[in-house]
Amino acid sequence: MFTAQEITNLKSKEKIVMLTAYDYTLAKIMDNLVDLILVGDSMAMVVLGHKDTTEIKIEDLLQATKSVSKGAKNTFIVGDMPLGSYNNNEEALISATHFINAGAHAVKIEKNPSIAKFLTENKIKVMGHVGLTPQTITDFKVQGKDDTSAKQILQEAKELENSGCFSIVLECIPIDLAKEITNSISIPTIGIGAGPNCDGQVLVTHDLLGLFEDFKPKFVKRYTNLGREIKKAIQNYKDEVKNKRFPDDNHSFH
Ligand code: KIV
Repeated sequence: MFTAQEITNLKSKEKIVMLTAYDYTLAKIMDNLVDLILVGDSMAMVVLGHKDTTEIKIEDLLQATKSVSKGAKNTFIVGDMPLGSYNNNEEALISATHFINAGAHAVKIEKNPSIAKFLTENKIKVMGHVGLTPQTITDFKVQGKDDTSAKQILQEAKELENSGCFSIVLECIPIDLAKEITNSISIPTIGIGAGPNCDGQVLVTHDLLGLFEDFKPKFVKRYTNLGREIKKAIQNYKDEVKNKRFPDDNHSFH
């Protein structure tokens, strides 16, 4: 398993691969396959059925982190601090400590360089997040398209680097801005909707697998359609039960 320092050192050596997980079974499947697992607050939508990430509670993410850490024993795990869990330094440290105790090796926060600094000074490994930060931006569109907002996002990334973050997520920003940020900071950038020039990539696993069908942002690539496969399997099961073909002798006791 990588340490946070080793992940930082991967910058410009090899691309970093991160995916989300929220449960034991999927975490176990992806253990040893990805470099990092993010227990993301995207769980709010893809697991809990909320409309966005703002409603998820820290308890939900802590339970998910515990389950993921049981399944992925060899992978660096990042716990996503939800909205309302890092309003000030003390609250942030308590929340981050809960994540570490639940099995995370680091936490992720959106923007907030001063909170990141306080956490890193208290020996918590922190992943930053700039661009489209869904906890505070409700308008889900590409960020940093004009000069002023692009400069601001670049500045936020630099501040997070100076706060001691070991890596940073760039979400939904133009390719050129992602490239400029990646070339301007010494920690790895992990992109989602930020183009190919980032040091790594992250996707929400339910999107990659074709499990989540409510909406599909342009940057999502579905590598398979498990939603369709699951429906097929359930339909087969239903047909066999209705037609008295399941359970057969092979699946019964004598
Ligand atoms: O919650 C999440 O899955 C995330 C990723 C989109 C980076 O924050």
